[in-house]
Amino acid sequence: MAETAQLKIGDKTFELPVIEGTEGEKAIDISKLRDQTGYVTLDIGYKNTGATKSAITFLDGEQGILKYRGYPIEQLAEKSSFIEVAYLLIYGELPTADQLKAFQYELSRHTLVHEDMKKFFDGFPSKSHPMGQLSSLVSALSAFYPESLKPSQTTEELNQSIIKMLAKMATVVSWIYKKSLGHPVIYPKNKYDYVTNFLYMTFGQRTEDVTIDPVVIDAMNKLLILHADHEQNCSASTVRIVGSSDSNIYASVSAGISALWGPLHGGANQAVIEMLEKIKEDGGDTDKWIAKAKDKNDPFRLMGFGHRVYKNFDPRAKIIKKACDDILEKLGINDEVLEIAKKLEEVALKDPYFVERKLYPNVDFYSGIIYRALGFPTDMFTVLFALGRLPGWIAQWKEMKENKEPIGRPRQIYVGATSKEYVDIANR
Ligand code: ACO
Repeated sequence: MAETAQLKIGDKTFELPVIEGTEGEKAIDISKLRDQTGYVTLDIGYKNTGATKSAITFLDGEQGILKYRGYPIEQLAEKSSFIEVAYLLIYGELPTADQLKAFQYELSRHTLVHEDMKKFFDGFPSKSHPMGQLSSLVSALSAFYPESLKPSQTTEELNQSIIKMLAKMATVVSWIYKKSLGHPVIYPKNKYDYVTNFLYMTFGQRTEDVTIDPVVIDAMNKLLILHADHEQNCSASTVRIVGSSDSNIYASVSAGISALWGPLHGGANQAVIEMLEKIKEDGGDTDKWIAKAKDKNDPFRLMGFGHRVYKNFDPRAKIIKKACDDILEKLGINDEVLEIAKKLEEVALKDPYFVERKLYPNVDFYSGIIYRALGFPTDMFTVLFALGRLPGWIAQWKEMKENKEPIGRPRQIYVGATSKEYVDIANR
């Protein structure tokens, strides 16, 4: 017999279905709760709320497991390329060699963005944050590709929107970087694969055919793979909820970028480096900063520590810590900030405050150090996270559409004033 949960309200008992996911996760299905009981649930921050059934990413926060479409993150990070992982997330299976070739070919045919897009850059103040630019520019893409506005696209039209979104993102991100330097933009070259093309447009010279260091290409692939999806996090949930009103792919992804920007989410990678720099300038006394993080009267938090879901370790952080050591060694970089990061981690992992609260380094504790070693300025870090997360957002958006999910619209418990009589302004 199917398992049920009983809910007792007053003298009435209600049976609620229990559903089980393929990895054994269980949920009480309350989708008919209000109709049956007149009650809603309250779960601020959605700490206990499953917003959807999804077949894209599985994570087990207690055991530190992360899988994309069933494949462990460790295997993908070691053996796969970013674009192969993007295909896996979006279409559900690892591509065959021919499928990957066709996917790469399709992407390379759409990497150019409309020339008029360049005019937007002239409107941004030179020091404006790249995430604000990225969110605006991605939303603006809808103006140039209006076929994406059709709420019910055919499979082929939907696929074209997905390809364009992916292909143009790398160009837009690299152009934001070039423009921040006051340099002319570099146009994509079809002969390069996605990641190499991105690095070429970012670090290349206009007139030369540069060779990008394979160590850098590898590192970039790994970082993007590790960030490619993370189930129903703040930005993915935003993308799904915006898309649920039949908003186009560019508007939905642009909203996800805005959600990612905050330092409690993707903005943490920038915040970590800024924190480590500050500790370095302050003399490198890690104990002092650990004490600050524990002090409830001090707003300082140890950035890059803690996670809403991982309460044991973040499997991405394990991979990235090792990659960080390897890459710095291969590139011959000696970064003092890495030493501070390691010391902080060592102290925090033994400190009862962090142990009791299950606070461990997350993916962004070390990612900024690698981005820095690759030559990116600090305020570009979260933009790189967005580039990596894009396939995940697309997969989540596509799944939401294919499942024909209803518009996202939570309830609330109203706690404001009840009926008041309007008072004329002269008498207030
Ligand atoms: N430093 C110090 N104390 C912390 C930290 C931290 N980084 N993170 C959590 N805590 C403490 C809280 O003060 C709280 O203590 P209390 O129980 O005594 O009040 C307890 O740990 C639980 O914290 P919450 O904020 O309730 O945990 P939540 O799951 O809501 O937040 C979050 C998770 C936002 C990631 C949090 O740990 C944090 O702010 N971390 C720093 C920012 C960061 O690195 N974000 C990136 C997350 S990964 C990503 O998005 C890619």
